[in-house]
Amino acid sequence: MKKIVIEGGAPIRGEIHVSGAKNAVLPLIAATLLTEGVCTIDECPWLSDVDTMCRVLTYLGAKTGFSDNRLSIDTCGLKSVATPGELVRKMRASFLIMGPLLARFGKVRMSLPGGCAIGARPIDLHLKGFEAMGARISIGPGYIEAEAPKLTGAHIYLDFPSVGATENLMMAASLAEGPTIIDNAAQEPEIVDLSNMLSAMGANIKGAGTSIIRINGVSSLRPAMHTVIPDRVEAGSFMVLAAASGGELIISNVIAEHLKSVIAKLQEAGVVVEIGYDGVHVIGNEHIHPLDIKTLPYPGFPTDMQAQFMPLLAIAKGASVVTETVFENRFMHVAELQKMNADIKIDGHSAVINGVSRLRGAEVSATDLRAGAAMIIAGCIAEGVTTIDHIDHIQRGYENICDKLAAVGARIKTVES
Ligand code: EPZ
Repeated sequence: MKKIVIEGGAPIRGEIHVSGAKNAVLPLIAATLLTEGVCTIDECPWLSDVDTMCRVLTYLGAKTGFSDNRLSIDTCGLKSVATPGELVRKMRASFLIMGPLLARFGKVRMSLPGGCAIGARPIDLHLKGFEAMGARISIGPGYIEAEAPKLTGAHIYLDFPSVGATENLMMAASLAEGPTIIDNAAQEPEIVDLSNMLSAMGANIKGAGTSIIRINGVSSLRPAMHTVIPDRVEAGSFMVLAAASGGELIISNVIAEHLKSVIAKLQEAGVVVEIGYDGVHVIGNEHIHPLDIKTLPYPGFPTDMQAQFMPLLAIAKGASVVTETVFENRFMHVAELQKMNADIKIDGHSAVINGVSRLRGAEVSATDLRAGAAMIIAGCIAEGVTTIDHIDHIQRGYENICDKLAAVGARIKTVES
């Protein structure tokens, strides 16, 4: 099993480039199922989640190729609408192929997606939307089947602005008969990126990025070329590292607009963040001010950045409160940070963090993807050596993370344990 070993305290200084967004590229890959032909996605990061999604499409009969961060997907040979159970259970995002397969072939059989460490992750909002568009849903032991000779447009209200449900329903509605309105839709930048690719494929979509998305179904879609947006969560993770280490990073390939809430919180903590044309310049601070954070759907503070802020607040000069409102179990990293001398107490959906002078290196685990990023940040600023296991979680969402951080001074490496 591989581990990451970090010798803390090295100054973090230099330039670092952000890869394409994992949470944008996964729905983009699913969207290629809506057409027959070759789609290409540029700036695609090579991550284990991308590999898993490509394996799902290959299982269905598509052909995929990857070189120089260009992913090409040929869907001419699609021959099945029954998805590979173990791959769907492995990665929840593979559930995003349900909408495209239902819209294109009128039938799909999916294994129930795995929840992961951060909560139950139901799919009721996805299914409610498909039913509103005329699909008949049947649930068997561990699988779901949906059937609809032709989806029809509908007015769908999402009880919660679910990112995945918005994406799945937007893709299904693109080929439905008539107009669809997705009300209380998620507004994340990844939704806008998907809408842009669907429009390039010939879809008729308006309002992505707002809470009301209107889609007029068309009879067919064509292959397209698309460049994925930068990964705002990877960028935010690097910004927090610069802040917590008292270092200085120039982070390129960043759309600062996508990180307004994160930048605001870093500036509230006393960190200098300068916004450039294609990136941000972050200058850390020895004196981090405590602050309160409440995670919310976009444009609120992103739940995907909550874990990474904890090591920063763990060394702030005072008490901070972090409240997680999006997922019911996203504090798994707290116990790992406590092993490193962090003073954190969980109270329901909130964590109270009393700043300490220094974190101490320890043997810890990456309990999920973003918790893993938090442990890397903690290891870089701690006194002594930190060893992180279960790093497969980290490799799901951070391309070449050890190389990137070593290039800006971190004493970090991956070892076989
Ligand atoms: C996406 O997950 C992201 N993943 C997550 O990033 C991110 O944390 C999340 O959106 C919220 O921003 C990808 O884009 C691949 P949701 P998704 O549906 O779509 C509840 C990371 O670290 N819900 O917006 O699964 C759900 O239980 C990952 O990169 C329902 O109740 O998130 C959760 O509490 C982690 N019923 C909340 O909504 C449903 O049918 C948000 O889920 C669907 C969701």
